[in-house]
Amino acid sequence: HIPNPPAPLPAGQDGLKLVNDPAHPFIAAGPTDIRSPCPALNTLASHGYLPRNGVARPDQLVTGVMEGLNLGNDFAKFLVYQAFLMNGNPLTNLMSIGMKTPETGPDPPKPALVGGLSQHGTFEGDTSMTRVDAFFGDQAVFNETLFQEFIAFSAKYGFNGTYDLNAVAELRNQRLLDPIATNPELVFTSPRILSAYSEAVFPTIFFVDGRLNNRQLTIDAARHFFDFQMMPTDFHRQPAPVNFTLVNPLVNEIFNKHPFTPGVNHGKNNFVLMPNTPALSDFCGIYEDIVLRVIPGQYPNPNGHLKKVIKKNLDFFFDAVSAEHNCTQVFPYGRD
Ligand code: HEM
Ligand code: MG
Repeated sequence: HIPNPPAPLPAGQDGLKLVNDPAHPFIAAGPTDIRSPCPALNTLASHGYLPRNGVARPDQLVTGVMEGLNLGNDFAKFLVYQAFLMNGNPLTNLMSIGMKTPETGPDPPKPALVGGLSQHGTFEGDTSMTRVDAFFGDQAVFNETLFQEFIAFSAKYGFNGTYDLNAVAELRNQRLLDPIATNPELVFTSPRILSAYSEAVFPTIFFVDGRLNNRQLTIDAARHFFDFQMMPTDFHRQPAPVNFTLVNPLVNEIFNKHPFTPGVNHGKNNFVLMPNTPALSDFCGIYEDIVLRVIPGQYPNPNGHLKKVIKKNLDFFFDAVSAEHNCTQVFPYGRD
């Protein structure tokens, strides 16, 4: 049995709110708690908006990001079901927000990975801002050297040294140019291109105190979320649920400053363009690529109960997509 995804926050409870509150105290992760390549999910787990052990059901993740950071319902479901289809266990309805763990229960047959969010080459991918590419080391853990680059770009391009949209555009571009030069195994294609560009913008929205809400992230607040996995003292979430309509124009704006074509490195400094794979602007193409190529890569021929639960999660995923994008649903395992 899989629970339906949660509804939006009720009117009157979907606004500005103190979220670093006494009911959600910061408690640092213990030795058996799993943490993520995602600074937002880490912070939400450390404050108890997600299970503190870092293993969660999709519905808990949707609720956690809505309550803790005010993601809109559709946007939350889009991120969560995309991740869950690639990295979760559809049989137990559990996903690790970080490394693979037996805590998600017995796996479906290979080539299913059930690798958790740290699984390289799924949701996690190259050119992250504060994590190294998997080729160089641990792709999940915060990296101080890269964070110093984040600070330097904010100092150089951001208003008053903040991480603002100008800093985002320049840092995001640099974080593609560096791995092109140094990572012989760089992959920068769908679906990673979408998460890379969205995640660059997210901190200017969700990590800025909702009372100020000026899209200028201070380095102190960035340090709290990325490094300490902690909300700043007195932190208030966004004043209204944030959906695609708010995020997409910001993503387009940074893309247009430094456009790129998807591609992969065939050895260092040999970025081979893949113009026939979906571009960042082709949202429905990326949706179809996930559903028709990425998911069947792990579940080529599911049967019985497994097939049923994957199809259910694919439906939840499409519901989130169709809320604000005019895509046509695709069916890798038939319509019935
Ligand atoms: C990175 C998952 C929500 C901020 C990531 C990564 C994953 C992930 C797997 C690693 C990708 C990579 O860098 O290789 C998720 C899921 C979410 C979610 C499943 C479900 C709701 C959010 C939210 C924010 C956020 C609400 C708000 C700020 C980020 C940032 C990174 C990131 C900034 C990039 C870290 C870096 O490049 O160093 N997320 N995320 N995420 N996430 Fe999330
Ligand atoms: Mg990464």
